[in-house]
Amino acid sequence: MNVCVIGTGYVGLVTGACLAEIGHQVVCMDDDARKIEILLSGGMPIYEPHLEGMVKRSRAAGRLHFTTDVGEAVREATVIFICVNTPPLPDGEADLTYVELATRRIAEHATHSPLITEKSTVPVQTGAWIEKTLAIYGNRPGVEFDVASNPEFTREGMAVEDFLHPDRIVVGVSTARAEQILRELYAPIVAGRFRCPIHADCRQDRAVPFLVTDLRSAELIKHASNSFLAMKISFANALADVCELAGGDILQVAEGVGLDKRIGRAFLNAGIGFGGSCFPKDLKAFVKIAERSGHDFALLREVDRINERRREMVLEKLKRALWILRGKRIGLLGLAFKPNTDDVRQAPALAIARRLLEEGAEVRGYDPQAASKARQVIPTLTICADPYEVVAQAEAVILCTEWAEFLALDWPRMKGQMVRPLILDGRNALDREKLISFGFEYIGIGR
Ligand code: UDX
Repeated sequence: MNVCVIGTGYVGLVTGACLAEIGHQVVCMDDDARKIEILLSGGMPIYEPHLEGMVKRSRAAGRLHFTTDVGEAVREATVIFICVNTPPLPDGEADLTYVELATRRIAEHATHSPLITEKSTVPVQTGAWIEKTLAIYGNRPGVEFDVASNPEFTREGMAVEDFLHPDRIVVGVSTARAEQILRELYAPIVAGRFRCPIHADCRQDRAVPFLVTDLRSAELIKHASNSFLAMKISFANALADVCELAGGDILQVAEGVGLDKRIGRAFLNAGIGFGGSCFPKDLKAFVKIAERSGHDFALLREVDRINERRREMVLEKLKRALWILRGKRIGLLGLAFKPNTDDVRQAPALAIARRLLEEGAEVRGYDPQAASKARQVIPTLTICADPYEVVAQAEAVILCTEWAEFLALDWPRMKGQMVRPLILDGRNALDREKLISFGFEYIGIGR
């Protein structure tokens, strides 16, 4: 099938590369000429496991193309994905300028009758706006548009895996033709009929659920899924606070609670809170959407508030241990918002770095992938070449991102570098007993 993807950010590039991988003919388009230049010269604008190899293979096979020319991208496409960014406005609402722009350009350039599919995270009723926009600007004989919503549930760092082996595929459609096109497009993934680029011996033992809904319900499913997961994390964080006050261990409590199949253990990890380009933004946007529809989603406002408070909680813990922060050197292990990504958007580590700098501390950080992005955001943050340099002469070290390499550090060597061997384990990821046996003062979360 001929596929066009507008926007080559995390979602667009992964969508394009994965659809090419399963055999479709894909053109990815972006206005950012520099990004397209990087891709055309064989580079990657983002770090995402497996992506680079897939892009290389599909380009060599002539199935994946990159361009800045929207006309060229749209012309042959049976299905066009809108994957542009929807940044937050100051009041939390999503800015849909780029979605409208993409829609108008499609309306202008389409020569036959493509299916327009929204994949960017957008407020409910965006599909209806896209339909209206196409009707106004693309009203030509012989051209008819279908609109669908196909929300994306991939996690950064796991995006290729999640795209090719999803828990479910949701499509919101208003016509049988739209459903048919998307069924055909995803058929190889639903049936596990493609050569998996990740696992050589990959065998899918069941068909992936393919859920067909109306447009608005599909849009709401995306918001509801992200908000629910964010709510689980904030619940675990609030529970961690109670554990500390009442005397309990959040790790044991989460295990006991999570063993209930109705609840599940995933996303009950307490710590310094959630970040990234999705949860914080989508949560605020959903609160706004509900508000506009006349509902005060107070539950989700509290989820957001609990998350914001996590950063301050770290400062409080540190002050309780160190008394004065001014002039003290504090090390941060991990700057990305989570492991296996170079993304620092809304990263709790950077919020903590900023607060520590405000308090007059000297902050040094290390991250296996996100260092240069972090430096761009906070130029006053000293970036180190390795974890041992981070803790040299430090009075405390905070684990902000649980990269696997931090779990295997030479901790006695780390301790030898520090003025005071104090560790704040912001993700409850380290072996507390072992660290204490090495002579560290260990502070966890909710333990
Ligand atoms: C999320 C959703 O998981 C995905 O379905 C959606 O498409 C996009 O948003 P992502 O932002 O890539 O994906 O990261 P995710 O793995 O969900 O983690 C989000 C944040 O929550 C991270 O900062 C992570 O550290 C934090 N987190 C996660 C916790 O603090 N505790 C947990 O138990 C789980």
